[in-house]
Amino acid sequence: MTEDDIMKCDTADPLATHRRHFELPADTIYLNGNSLGPLSTASKQRVREVVESQWGNDLISSWNKHKWIDLPVTVGEKIAPLIGAAPGQVLCCDSVSVNLFKLLSAALTGRRSERTVILSQRDNFPSDLYIAEGLITLLREHGISAELRLVAAENLEESIAQSADVLLLTHVNFRTGRVHDMQRLTALAHDHDLQVIWDLSHSAGVMALALDDCEVDFAVGCGYKFLNGGPGAPAFLYVASRLQAKLQNPLQGWMGHRHPFAFELEYAPDVGINQLQTGTPCILSMSALDAALSCFEGLTAIQLREKSLALSAMFMSLLEGDPTYESLTLVSPRESKQRGAQLSFSHNDAFPISQALIEAGVIVDFRAPNLIRLGFSPLFLSFGEVARSAAILKQILLEGRFRQERFSVRAKVT
Ligand SMILES: Cc1ncc(COP(=O)(O)O)c(C=O)c1O
Repeated sequence: MTEDDIMKCDTADPLATHRRHFELPADTIYLNGNSLGPLSTASKQRVREVVESQWGNDLISSWNKHKWIDLPVTVGEKIAPLIGAAPGQVLCCDSVSVNLFKLLSAALTGRRSERTVILSQRDNFPSDLYIAEGLITLLREHGISAELRLVAAENLEESIAQSADVLLLTHVNFRTGRVHDMQRLTALAHDHDLQVIWDLSHSAGVMALALDDCEVDFAVGCGYKFLNGGPGAPAFLYVASRLQAKLQNPLQGWMGHRHPFAFELEYAPDVGINQLQTGTPCILSMSALDAALSCFEGLTAIQLREKSLALSAMFMSLLEGDPTYESLTLVSPRESKQRGAQLSFSHNDAFPISQALIEAGVIVDFRAPNLIRLGFSPLFLSFGEVARSAAILKQILLEGRFRQERFSVRAKVT
């Protein structure tokens, strides 16, 4: 692929102008939008306005005047089109982990199995499994026979057929980037009377999702990755309309009450998705996410998906056939349809290589024990940058620069 070809890709890119929404530092190629999306000008301005003007001047009146109180629902409504959800089914609140606890518990409400079984994948994101395990322990302590059944991805379909209550899966695997067939697995689970919870943390904002069309029951997803909401941005949850009448939120708090400011003694859940709120929403973070979502205006999920795949395909094609990269093993699916917006490579020196890349301005992730993970966010990356990052990686491997001692020092967050 020549420089001319790469330039042509950028010239033809219909999303190229969206980069202007982001405040990326000079000389930085940000292949880490899958961990922490970058700062948008819209978020920066909104947070300043919320702090200085709304909180600063309007103080407590802002709950009504600036509609802070409605943010969980209005931000949820902005996320809905990105995941293929009709209005009234998405709420922005809490973290993915906390939302998962709420939905897992809600999905098990009213089930009368002799043994409650949550089925999941052994290499699911650990926090999802910790949450499921915690709930199982709680059930057992209350005398309910319960089990978290973990299986390998290739055994999922046969396990679905063997009596379980809930299927808990992450749509795009955080290590490999492998995508599950949401439609097929959801339908199969329903055939066997399982409800399904999808974790969309690595999907929202980069995949063409169709939750309603796939008849998904429940979903959770992250606000700080491809949605660019900022560090610790609140997450979102989805509950299909058909299930909302029978919902039971295990974390009943006043924000999910029908009349929170009536301060009634009895808990009476709000109707619809809002009953899944618990406590006071984090207005600063939620405002940052709200503003960041404006960067998606005018774009379709299909456009986002196509560009992100084109970026990762270009990166792969630049590596293929070049002996410099032979020490890297691709652990992501080679076939584009089977992977999300990331590529992961294993290498014995994955950590020092990732550190050398970061020092050279190519920001990537390291994931223990031996993965270099690159995220291809379609909103702000150019094809030229992707090509440059492949060239920088080549230089680092050729020179063996990553062997310098300083690249092996690990900080708390890797
Ligand atoms: C797939 C997946 N699920 C869950 C989480 C946890 O999210 P939170 O910190 O919001 O609980 C993450 C975090 O990176 C994730 O990647």
